[in-house]
Amino acid sequence: MGYTLTILGCGVMGQAILSAIYKAQKAPSETKEYYPSKIIACNHDDSSVQQVVDLVKEMGESPNGIEVEVTHSHNDEAVKQSSVVLLGTKPYLAEKVLDGVSSEINGKLIISIVAGWTIEQLQNYSSNVSRIMTNTPAKYGYGCAIVSHSTECTETQKFLVKELIDQVGICIELPERNMDAATSLVGSGPAFVLLMIESMTEAGIKMGIPYKESLQCSLKVMEGTTKMVELSKQHPSVLKHQVCTPGGTTIAGLCKMEDHGVKSGLINGFQEAADVAAKLGQKK
Ligand SMILES: NC(=O)c1ccc[n+]([C@@H]2O[C@H](COP(=O)([O-])OP(=O)(O)OC[C@H]3O[C@@H](n4cnc5c(N)ncnc54)[C@H](OP(=O)(O)O)[C@@H]3O)[C@@H](O)[C@H]2O)c1
Repeated sequence: MGYTLTILGCGVMGQAILSAIYKAQKAPSETKEYYPSKIIACNHDDSSVQQVVDLVKEMGESPNGIEVEVTHSHNDEAVKQSSVVLLGTKPYLAEKVLDGVSSEINGKLIISIVAGWTIEQLQNYSSNVSRIMTNTPAKYGYGCAIVSHSTECTETQKFLVKELIDQVGICIELPERNMDAATSLVGSGPAFVLLMIESMTEAGIKMGIPYKESLQCSLKVMEGTTKMVELSKQHPSVLKHQVCTPGGTTIAGLCKMEDHGVKSGLINGFQEAADVAAKLGQKK
């Protein structure tokens, strides 16, 4: 008999995580216990409930036999039935939603994806807290999630979080002091990479390649380069220099980009996003 997982606020990210857990491959007996037998998705109104109902219908049966119930206006009742609660509301609503379930949530494991909410703040509601920063590619199983746990979390709870959140792509544990950086690198990262894809595609168009082929080439170059770094296990700068023929095209392009501060622009952009994340955290 498994446990019940309640998702408080099942919007873009909540649905991405719900789908990843629901569609996870059939777990072997050693990890089966980490999967819920039931997920209760709690939203705000009929229309956001319907979105989740449609999503579950589309996915067909769960390989791990997970049952999903979707409700609104019954957050406290759902939390009462569950031993694990995933908080997926927008940051400005988190306090109101947590206050509404405070009598039921104490003593349960809270997994929070809410940006800017620290473990200490979440511990006002329960001492066992896992704080997560993830990103939108999670919707397609290519997400990256950074997790930090409160010291009260048990090893079993940490395994459970890793097993569930790994389903969005990859789940990496880091100390909470890295969360603002993770918010930038992982949370904002897709927008910065999209800017690069957009720029590459437009460069292709400027040089006469049609949009469709230019986008195809840009995506494959991104994917291929990522795989090359991963599989070769070489430092990116080593691989970069391997394609720089003396007096050739690549070094010419790289020097031009350097003139325009592309590398420092990227580093400063990530830093700026982390600084804003830190300030947002201080505001509460
Ligand atoms: N989107 C991203 O790229 C991203 C990346 C990293 C982290 N995050 C974090 O993920 C969290 C969720 O973001 P999101 O983009 O998924 O937001 P979202 O799509 O707005 O999802 C939030 C959900 O909470 C529901 N909700 C509102 N009030 C509620 C209540 N009283 N009880 C239960 N549910 C309620 C909303 O329903 P209604 O739609 O009906 O209001 C909505 O379905 C945020 O805290 C954000 O910091 C997001």
